[in-house]
Amino acid sequence: MNKGKRPLRSAQWFGTADKNGFMYRSWMKNQGIPDHEFGGKPIIGICNTWSELTPCNAHFRKLAEHVKRGVLEAGGFPVEFPVFSNGESNLRPTAMLTRNLASMDVEESIRGNPVDAVVLLVGCDKTTPALLMGAASCDVPAIVVTGGPMLNGKHQGRDIGSGTIVWQLSEQVKAGKISLHDFMSAEAGMSRSAGTCNTMGTASTMACMAEALGVSLPHNAAIPAVDARRYVLAHMSGMRIVEMALDDLRLSKLLTRAAFENAIRVNAAIGGSTNAAIHLKAIAGRIGVSLELDDWTRIGRGTPTLVDLQPSGRYLMEEFYYAGGLPAVVRRLGEAALLPNPDALTANGRSLWDNCKDAPLYNDAVIRPLDQPVFPDGGLYVLRGNLAPNGAVLKPSASTPALLKHRGRAVVFENFEDYKARIGAPDLDVTADSVLVLKNCGPKGYPGMAEVGNMGLPPKLLAAGVTDMVRISDARMSGTAYGTVVLHVAPEARAGGPLAVVQNGDWIEVDCDAGQLHLDISDEELAARLAAWTTTRKDDPADASGYRHLYVQHVLQADQGCDFDFLVGCRGADVPRHSH
Ligand code: FES
Repeated sequence: MNKGKRPLRSAQWFGTADKNGFMYRSWMKNQGIPDHEFGGKPIIGICNTWSELTPCNAHFRKLAEHVKRGVLEAGGFPVEFPVFSNGESNLRPTAMLTRNLASMDVEESIRGNPVDAVVLLVGCDKTTPALLMGAASCDVPAIVVTGGPMLNGKHQGRDIGSGTIVWQLSEQVKAGKISLHDFMSAEAGMSRSAGTCNTMGTASTMACMAEALGVSLPHNAAIPAVDARRYVLAHMSGMRIVEMALDDLRLSKLLTRAAFENAIRVNAAIGGSTNAAIHLKAIAGRIGVSLELDDWTRIGRGTPTLVDLQPSGRYLMEEFYYAGGLPAVVRRLGEAALLPNPDALTANGRSLWDNCKDAPLYNDAVIRPLDQPVFPDGGLYVLRGNLAPNGAVLKPSASTPALLKHRGRAVVFENFEDYKARIGAPDLDVTADSVLVLKNCGPKGYPGMAEVGNMGLPPKLLAAGVTDMVRISDARMSGTAYGTVVLHVAPEARAGGPLAVVQNGDWIEVDCDAGQLHLDISDEELAARLAAWTTTRKDDPADASGYRHLYVQHVLQADQGCDFDFLVGCRGADVPRHSH
């Protein structure tokens, strides 16, 4: 079965006729596995994030069965195992708090067990980076199989998108334009099938990133969860991973600097989530690829957003698949010489360009031609200045163009509780030109860096017809959200970044074209305020113990991917041999 190639890793467990081999095999045989299964077949781990508490991944048992069919057909030996499933919708305070925990689970599960390669079953936002981070730290052959997006939401005769419609309708309720009953009636129609959010939110973005990075088969990102072709893809991925195990096609051969450059360009073209900047950095760190925030400017800027999907545009993932999916986008980029590294290797053994150069394009309204983009410059803006010395990001395609250069007075909220308590106050001193500033929602300040950066506008301004304002925070934003929102300010307030000392009424300047984020006070004044802040800083008692203690002690800032400092790097899959 192994065709005389390199010894398989699993042979260290099952390949010896001695006491150790006896014990490893014997316990596995309690599952009804015959002798010949241990005769040198590649053992394929199926790393499953199935959970009924992660509704986006709740169909993964069936998905895993189709992967197994493929593995068996190709002559492999599938073994399914569970890993921590961090679903976005239920998990409090935020699924991001446990992304690194899940990655540790994945890494140790792979390294400690007799698997030659893994299939990563991912879907909901954080599951994709978590599993890729863990597998990258082991550097084994791995292939991503995404669960796929939900079917289009339906409500009162029109299509509605996951998450995005929630933001839209809740603002309409606050503005008195629709009733609470109308709002609630959208609930069941929004999520009417298995799968992940059907907008270009973080789940769809990370599925596209996996495909652009070359760690999945083509079309992995967009096939709807309930489309039979999703199960065909799972089957084919199961077949392919057996070959990858035999060929030792490890993640380090796919996750190269070239692959990350392609992914950054693709993110701009799809109008992808700002969360991608954090997750790609964390994945790159695990495989030893240097990737900096400014790469998003160097590589992403100037790339038109071609995919007309919510929240930046109009359509949903179903239409994206029917229009040609990600291969069609890559083709459009490549034909315009906008694909930085066409020769980057992918999981099927072919280059990204070979996979996509003949991809059919069925709908120019959904995947726009280069000369009719949704947004002419869709790459994430990276902003720097005395308010964000280590950077901040903004998604231009989700912003109001007129606000991309703006000067306004700060309305400051010290934390999210303060924001919730005061945003609705009739006497809040705020105008449409104000800049809303939210502190202490970064990786340490709100452990997990909650997606609250797109803080809702003051109801009195919504009622007056205001639809967007400049907002600045050290938080993240849901990929399904929109607005002129400066996110991921680093260093965060809790870590002593200048954001900590912004005061009500300070003037703030945002200039996206120039990449500037400036607090208009003197250097001396800023230094004096920071010195005073240091002496008044208090630790949150909730960070004193438990996993939160580990998190706050070791999490890196947003520009460094929010990984734990001790997890960065590739540790390989070797493990000391234990003698029973
Ligand atoms: Fe799971 Fe959006 S909540 S993908």
